[in-house]
Amino acid sequence: MNILLLGRGKTGSLVAEVARQRGHQVGVLCAADNPRASALTAAKLAEVDTVIDFTTPHAVLDNIEACVRARKNMVVGTTGWYGELPRIRQLVEASGTGFLYAANFSVGVNLFFDVARAAAAALRHRYSGQIFERHHVHKKDAPSGTAVALQRIIHDASGTELEITSFREGDVVGMHELVLDSPADTIYVCHDAKSRRGFAEGAVRAAEWLAGKKGFFDFKDAWREL
Ligand SMILES: NC(=O)c1ccc[n+]([C@@H]2O[C@H](COP(=O)([O-])OP(=O)(O)OC[C@H]3O[C@@H](n4cnc5c(N)ncnc54)[C@H](OP(=O)(O)O)[C@@H]3O)[C@@H](O)[C@H]2O)c1
Repeated sequence: MNILLLGRGKTGSLVAEVARQRGHQVGVLCAADNPRASALTAAKLAEVDTVIDFTTPHAVLDNIEACVRARKNMVVGTTGWYGELPRIRQLVEASGTGFLYAANFSVGVNLFFDVARAAAAALRHRYSGQIFERHHVHKKDAPSGTAVALQRIIHDASGTELEITSFREGDVVGMHELVLDSPADTIYVCHDAKSRRGFAEGAVRAAEWLAGKKGFFDFKDAWREL
């Protein structure tokens, strides 16, 4: 495929590397190349099959709207815009393009969510639960989006809202832990990311999965088919 990557930051540069390793042609735009999505016209995107966005919450909505207008398939890894999800879903569905997004493109994290959902049954058997998350000291937000997603999954599965405790330490890539405790035993369910590579591989494989498809997709419903 001919992929255009928006963002060459920590994650975007790895996505470009993985996409090239998987045999795709990759163009990359940074903020200065694309103010207010000005580089995303139908003419400029004529040769592009799919756009992948790992930019900022500030830039992503302009980018999405421009790609939808140009009728280009798009994979979005950028977070922080989900208040606009219903409006974007409508735009995508009206335009007949393919669109896939995720707060976490790691297949391992999505598997971890499945395991955690099953383990939440413990909360109906007198276990108490807690969520812990650890990230590098440069991470700006706390708790992490992944910890909040885990909290919501446990709530939907058990009706119980667990407390999240966040730690910011050294260069930890991202560790999430669900601890379920009873007087008889303790259950630990843990995901420990070794690098950002899991996100990058998931995003590129999602772009491959989206090729030729139309519609609005959440990675959590698609990753099993990759
Ligand atoms: N879904 C997932 O699995 C996943 C995983 C990791 C991160 N994320 C999310 O992905 C986003 C990026 O994370 P990061 O850690 O890679 O951030 P980062 O290192 O700060 O990189 C952001 C990049 O976006 C670029 N940018 C800003 N506006 C742009 C525009 N209009 N057009 C093109 N590029 C633009 C910036 O370019 P300049 O360098 O020129 O300023 C910068 O390179 C965040 O929202 C983060 O939460 C998602």
